[in-house]
Amino acid sequence: MFQRLQQKWKVSAWRVLIILITFATGGSLCGYLGRQILAWLDIEQNLIRIPLYIIIVTLLWPLCVLLISIPLGQFGFFTRYLARMGRRMGIGPKPTSNTDVAPFRLAVFASGAGSNAQQLINHFRHHPTIKVGLIVCNKPGAGVLNIAQTEKIPVLLIEKETFFRGNGYVDELKAEQIDFIVLAGFLWKLPAVLVKAYSGRMVNIHPALLPNYGGKGMYGMFVHAAVIAAKEKESGISIHFVDEVYDHGAVIFQATCPIGPKDTAESLAQKIHALEHAHYPHVIEEVVTKLQKTR
Ligand code: GRF
Repeated sequence: MFQRLQQKWKVSAWRVLIILITFATGGSLCGYLGRQILAWLDIEQNLIRIPLYIIIVTLLWPLCVLLISIPLGQFGFFTRYLARMGRRMGIGPKPTSNTDVAPFRLAVFASGAGSNAQQLINHFRHHPTIKVGLIVCNKPGAGVLNIAQTEKIPVLLIEKETFFRGNGYVDELKAEQIDFIVLAGFLWKLPAVLVKAYSGRMVNIHPALLPNYGGKGMYGMFVHAAVIAAKEKESGISIHFVDEVYDHGAVIFQATCPIGPKDTAESLAQKIHALEHAHYPHVIEEVVTKLQKTR
């Protein structure tokens, strides 16, 4: 159920929990206030009491939930949720069309198989304001290029000289109107010019719990082999903003998975991939949605 709600509301697991707490607390507050109002009105007859209680609670419920959502940081979610409910009942303003707002264009940088790129493409395929607009790859023959071809997404195949000693492909990205960069298994370090151009608008996913098992040389199976060799009891994923140091920028989100005595680097890699696929698109959607509000 948790996962279904996560997908339906397009939020992370912890937010589903906070939203459910808000619903429960708002509902209890509303019931309590309803009873107080009835006591204050001093109505004895059940025939009037019960329908009146239902009417009071129905009217109070949205207000109580909104009130509780403020300290729990969910006011934005609940205003949208209640507006949607209102529209379904034919109340409130019609939504403004998204078609006249240019979608936020993501560039996905990948050097490998591209399973995360595929999840991102699937997630944003019908999104009204976010779109995967470009795949950037440094490796001819990489699996991600087949995905781009199948999905009919333009590709920018980059080469070392221009990337590290030229403009970092900033001009090409701007020409493609890229608003946000998602690194998904991209193995080159990013040049300062590119990091600067997309500061606060570039995220990476690392297959371990940073700050541990990060830095130069810590990628792919090397990470999982090191985690297993250290006999860790858990590993996980870290989604973080990108700065000029490998795996260093501010962490936005982490999720963990247990490591059993029989786990190998290969089985751990599978668990980590499952975590990445479940969370990366949702976290990016949250970060980008916040950015869109400040645009
Ligand atoms: C992922 O495990 C990611 O954490 C790391 O590179 C891997 C890419 O996998 N940065 P895929 O190409 O998306 O399957």
